[in-house]
Amino acid sequence: MNRKKFLKQSAMLTVGLAAVPSIALSKKNSPLKNNSLFSSTGFSLPEIPYGYSAFPNVIDSKTMEIHHKKHHNGYTNKLNKACAKENIKTQRIEEILSAKSLSSSIQNNGGGYYNHCLYWDILTPGGSMSKEFDKKITASFGSKESFLNELTQAAKTRFGSGWAWLYQDNDKNLKICSTANQDNPLMQHVKTNGNPLLGIDVWEHAYYLKYQNKRGEYIQNILKIINWEKVENRMI
Ligand SMILES: [Fe+2]
Repeated sequence: MNRKKFLKQSAMLTVGLAAVPSIALSKKNSPLKNNSLFSSTGFSLPEIPYGYSAFPNVIDSKTMEIHHKKHHNGYTNKLNKACAKENIKTQRIEEILSAKSLSSSIQNNGGGYYNHCLYWDILTPGGSMSKEFDKKITASFGSKESFLNELTQAAKTRFGSGWAWLYQDNDKNLKICSTANQDNPLMQHVKTNGNPLLGIDVWEHAYYLKYQNKRGEYIQNILKIINWEKVENRMI
């Protein structure tokens, strides 16, 4: 992200000894809410408000449970260890991930922590786009159908493990991209840098029990349970 612009947009937030910019990271935009804050024990695994069995036709409950309790929890614990080791005092995960350089441990585990928080947050048993957001999507991608096709392609063609994103670039334009592993648009080394709005997990652990090698079917189905209101509310 353009550092000057980043700083210009943001008030400086002083946390402990560290002074870090608070970017597009108003609470409104955080998928983490209160979980974003360090407690005496560090970052915490957010609860899934709709439960593991909310989407029986899209993601089976076993996948949801393993994904949350094992994978996401693993990233959370490793992130806390990395923060302790690197003496990172910053309160917000978004600020940590927006730093100029990241250790591989923070990049992978901090990314894994943030990405999964966002993923759980933007799913819902039923959701639809507001007319206003639909207009913005149409203005940016030609039509809602084109947008969904482009997002689907980004998710389908990501080689190996990674994520597909709807994000705002640094000029606040709506864009689609994919990133490898646990990278995301907050990270400065990611060329498609900006404000993440929607992330689709295309690691095999997100779908393999139900879909095996049919990643396309998983993507098609998960797009039916997006909480578009939350996606829209993340815009800056
Ligand atoms: Fe995942």
